[in-house]
Amino acid sequence: MDLSTTYMGLALRNPLVASASPLSKTVDGVRRLADAGVGAVVLYSLFEEQLRREAADNARLAEAGTESFAESLSYFPASAEEEDGSRPYLSLLERAATAVDVPVIGSLNGVTPSGWADYGRAMQDAGAAAIELNISYLPGDPHISGRDVEQRHVDVLTRVRDAVSMPVAVKLSPHFSSTGEMALRLDEAGADALVLFNRFLQPDIDADSLSVVPEFSLSRPAEARLPRTWIALLYGRVRASLAATTGVETSADVAKFLLAGADVVMTASALLRHGPEYATVLLDGLSEWMASKEFSTVDEVRGMLAVPADTDETAYERAGYVGALREANRGFYGPW
Ligand SMILES: Cc1cc2nc3c(=O)[nH]c(=O)nc-3n(C[C@H](O)[C@H](O)[C@H](O)COP(=O)(O)O)c2cc1C
Repeated sequence: MDLSTTYMGLALRNPLVASASPLSKTVDGVRRLADAGVGAVVLYSLFEEQLRREAADNARLAEAGTESFAESLSYFPASAEEEDGSRPYLSLLERAATAVDVPVIGSLNGVTPSGWADYGRAMQDAGAAAIELNISYLPGDPHISGRDVEQRHVDVLTRVRDAVSMPVAVKLSPHFSSTGEMALRLDEAGADALVLFNRFLQPDIDADSLSVVPEFSLSRPAEARLPRTWIALLYGRVRASLAATTGVETSADVAKFLLAGADVVMTASALLRHGPEYATVLLDGLSEWMASKEFSTVDEVRGMLAVPADTDETAYERAGYVGALREANRGFYGPW
């Protein structure tokens, strides 16, 4: 079965991509993912907060050291890369990129426009095949306007786009007034791929201990419906590649994202749950399904069930919603 495909101009042996997760925190982890057959690996993210904290710590230590003895400065990093803590990440990226024969994509996670360009360039120099910008901006301040939030996304993308020659993907949230327009704006601003969507780890409240607790859980397949709907809507309407992320547990989930129009399908939770080698199970299942449906290439599958061009998208969605309600009213969910 020919699973080969392209993603933002990169030739991939298949459309299954290991998305950013702790599985890619070591070269060995990246190698296991590649050996299991994935088409590309997105490294875990370099976080803006982590860089800022380490830069601040280094500045404080340097200050204290200078006051006590001059040689102490020699303990401190000479280059900007070392000063801000990005060095271990860039080193991992460089070693991983040479260790495997699939593209390794760097990932930056932040919210402010500054700094991204330098790190983007440093990742390119370290051997990244592309960069994924995870713009995890949750505007907690109720005075920030929607337009400002959107503009921030465009600004971050533009700065990195101008600084690097490798492909740039944007991993965005589904929480916009008009997610489709945001996607179009990022497409126009030069995004090579849109990764749909960020999955936020929202804190919970423990009613017994009367405290806020960081809640973390792996995804479930039902969560794939939101990105799948948007991929089906955006397919054929943007120039950028479309990457699906969230809710892949079986090869059927991979197939469904491709049918909706995804160029690649990413997975983290399933690989964390079952181990990196589970990628082989997903790929074998995809090949078997394609054979059973008499597809011979991924291109034949892609977008088959996307929202057709020249459709009134709002009416289309509304029709699906009304249809679902009609089913429910027919007693689909039981007699109660
Ligand atoms: C433990 C864990 C760590 C993650 N770390 C990152 C990260 O560093 N950067 C990022 O962009 N996404 C990160 N993600 C999000 C995943 O890349 C992915 O987008 C999300 O989990 C949805 O896909 P899934 O349903 O296949 O897990 C992480 C997810 C998990 C579960």
